[in-house]
Order: sequence, then C-alpha cells, then structure tokens
Amino acid sequence: MKVDVVLGLQWGDEGKGKIVDVLAKNYPVIARFQGGPNAGHSLQFENKKFVLHTIPSGVFRKNTQNIIGNGVVIDPITFMEECLELEKTGVPVTQRVFISKKAHLILPGHRIIDAASEKEKGDSKIGSTLKGIGPAYMDKTGRNGIRVGDILTSDFRDRYENLKAKQISFLKQFDFEYDINEREPAWFEAIEYLKKFNLIDSEYTINQILDDNKRVLAEGAQGSLLDIDFGSYPFVTSSTTTCAGVCTGLGVAPKHIGTVSGIFKAYCTRVGSGPFPTELNDNNGELLRKLGFEFGATTGRPRRTGWLDLVALKYSVMINGVDQLIMMKADVLDSFDKIFVATAYKVDGEITEQIPYDTYCKIEPVYKEFKGWKRDLSKITKEEDLPFEFMNYVRFIEKEIGVPISIISLGPDRDQTIIRELLSK
Ligand code: GDP
Ligand code: IMO
Ligand code: MG
Repeated sequence: MKVDVVLGLQWGDEGKGKIVDVLAKNYPVIARFQGGPNAGHSLQFENKKFVLHTIPSGVFRKNTQNIIGNGVVIDPITFMEECLELEKTGVPVTQRVFISKKAHLILPGHRIIDAASEKEKGDSKIGSTLKGIGPAYMDKTGRNGIRVGDILTSDFRDRYENLKAKQISFLKQFDFEYDINEREPAWFEAIEYLKKFNLIDSEYTINQILDDNKRVLAEGAQGSLLDIDFGSYPFVTSSTTTCAGVCTGLGVAPKHIGTVSGIFKAYCTRVGSGPFPTELNDNNGELLRKLGFEFGATTGRPRRTGWLDLVALKYSVMINGVDQLIMMKADVLDSFDKIFVATAYKVDGEITEQIPYDTYCKIEPVYKEFKGWKRDLSKITKEEDLPFEFMNYVRFIEKEIGVPISIISLGPDRDQTIIRELLSK
C-alpha cells in the first residue's frame, strides 16, 4: 500500500489541519513528517475548535494511530501543553500518538538562539515563529542534536549539558540578554512526560503498516513556498515541506508515495517576511484578513493577504507532483464584486510565468479579472448548487494548473466540505 500526502502549496495556513481531520476517517494512520511547533493546524467539529502544533490532525479519530516522524522537531514543553489540553477533553493522547525515536528535540537554547538571530537581522528578519525551529535543524544537520530516543539513555543529562554548553558559546556572538536556565525545569519535567508515549522506530512501523496493506496519510506542515530549498530563501522555514520530505521524514521509499493532494486557499496569505507578489495593502487586503480571520494560529500575528497567484501555485504543483488540488476558503470571497488571479509576472518589463531566482526583485503581477458570485457559499453542501460564477473560477484554475480540484472547502467546520471526486493511486 501507499502513503498518500496532504501538503500546503502556498505559504502555510492553507487549511491542512481541517482537511487531514476530514480525510482521517479513511486512514488507520496519520503521520507528520517535518516541521515542529511553528505549525498551527486548526480543526473544527461538533461546535468545538482545536489548534494542533506538533500532534497529527488524526488525533480526534478513535481508531487512528498518529505518528510524529523522524523529520519533525519536538519541543517537549509545548508538546506536553498540547497533550494536556487534549487529555482534558477526553482524548487518550498517550494511546493515539506514537513518536519516532529519531525526531530531534528543541532545547531551551534553540529558542534563545532563534530570538537572538532574529534580533540581529533587524529589518531583514525572517519573521520566525521563535519556536527554535531553525536552530534545532541546524544542530540536526550539524550533527550536534539530541533525539527523542536519547531521553531513554543513562547519560541523557550529559548530552543535554554538552549541547547547552555549545549553545552558550554560540550565543556569545550576539548582543542578546538571556536566561537559558529559565525553561530548564519545565523542559525536564516535559521530558519525563514524553516517556509515557510509545517511542518507536517509526520507519519500521510505517513500512510494516504498508506491508499489511494499510494506507498512511502524511500531513505536511508549513507550505511549499516556505521549503528550505524551493521557498523564497532566506524567508523560509528550515525543513523540506515539499513531497520529498515525506520520504526523508518518515523513512518511506519514493515508490511508496501514493496520491499527492495539494491544498491552496482561493486567495493567498503569508505570515512573516519575504516576497509576496500579489499582496494587497488596501481595503481588499484588509477585507480578506477580516473575513478570513487571517491571524496566525501559532503566534496570533495578522497574516498578510493577497489575490491567488497561479505562477506560484503552478510551481508548487510541479515540485510536489500534485495529483489533485484541494481549494480552501472560497467562502471568504463571497462578498467581492471582482476577484483577481495572477496568471503571470512582469519582471524588468518582461512577462514570465516562472518565479525569478532573485528574492528581492520587483515583481508586477499580471491579473485576470473574475466577476464575483455574491452569494453565501458557506451553507452549500452539493456541487450542483454552487453558483455559475464560482464554478467559472474553479474551472479556470483547473485548466490553468492542469490538475483537478477534488475537494472544495467552504467553511472551517468538518461538515463544510464538498468532496467531488477523490483520486487514489
Ligand atoms: P493550517 O496551518 O494549514 O492547518 O491552517 P490554519 O489552521 O493555520 O489556518 C486555516 C484557518 O482557516 C483556520 O482558522 C481554519 O479554521 C480556517 N478554515 C479552514 N478551511 C476554511 C474554509 O474553507 N473557510 C473558512 N472561512 N475558513 C476555513
Ligand atoms: P502551518 O503548518 C505559516 C513561517 C514564519 C516565518 C517562516 C520561518 O500552520 O501552515 P520558523 O518559525 O519556521 O523559523 O519561521 O515560516 N511559518 C509559517 N507560516 N504557517 C506555518 O505553519 C508556518 N510555520 C512557519 O512565519 O515566516
Ligand atoms: Mg497554520
């Protein structure tokens, strides 16, 4: 059997949490393959709302096993807080969540280095969530990191002190005040809590599940345009957010990748710094933010907003080999008279359909105008009831991208989802 993939095609916050929760009923296993508590995945059902950061979005489904893969970085403190919240609502997290021993730990020092580095960058800061993600992945690739499996070893404290000493030495280059001991007691308490979980060799577990003829759903975090290689570097996160990350972040061979579903909003948002060609700094932008409640699920920061960008979307579809699209939040556009979609860029007077290498160059989007549908879509449950103007928008995107839109989401709730035709490879 295969690992199907759901990942974001824009700058994150496309609605991955909602869709993974919807699809989770069809999968015995949901697995996160990268990122960490920089993610904020919102779910809504039965008048309840949740935001998950490290835990996969299948955790509310009774018979679903949720795996945190080796490609994820875990902050024990935020992980424990998240679990305790879920336990309060009756979710048996220690039974449903399994953690790879090879996942790396975020130490208190990583968060401090994140903050020091951002402060030093000044106006050119990344706009990091300050959860310690970049520094934790730096220690992973620098071969200094501490992994979840290490918490079971007798010299764990020594390993911690060793890395802490390196961090203190690294921090000398910054003019930054910090107290590395402040979060330490809570961190070690959370390490004890982690021991309650099944700490597994998840690559064996997942491959065994596939051998047993069961399907796995891999849940992406962030978005393709925040990918460490293919995003708008350096304004990116530090992991492989694209489909290739599923192989390295779960230990799954490329031949076992099944259907790749790419999620996009019917417009665009970005939180943090970096290029955003279709950004709107006007009333329409403000309206998108207000109607879409575009405020970060992790940091509460207002999200930057803009029109749908097909140049960027085509790029993400190409990099990920997307088989089917999932369109989110079209209901947010309900009241707009006119809707615009960028079909190309003008760079230095030349029209192009490619994203330029230079992150800092001036891009002028070339727009196609659409007539708004001016109807409340949020209560529509059948495709045949969708207005003509809306379907016009849908068909145009499908034609331009060359990939079908299989799911249309028209509200934050599990039930506000129209499933057209799901592909299965
Ligand atoms: P994720 O990080 O990709 O899981 O997305 P977030 O949870 O950070 O952000 C998506 C936001 O949009 C959340 O507040 C969701 O509740 C909300 N949302 C998801 N789908 C829809 C939709 O179709 N319509 C509307 N109006 N809101 C949605
Ligand atoms: P989900 O999974 C949106 C952004 C940050 C910043 C950049 C680097 O909810 O879609 P980091 O903390 O990773 O060093 O920040 O990436 N970012 C996200 N933006 N959604 C996310 O996750 C994000 N995770 C990181 O705002 O610009
Ligand atoms: Mg989010």
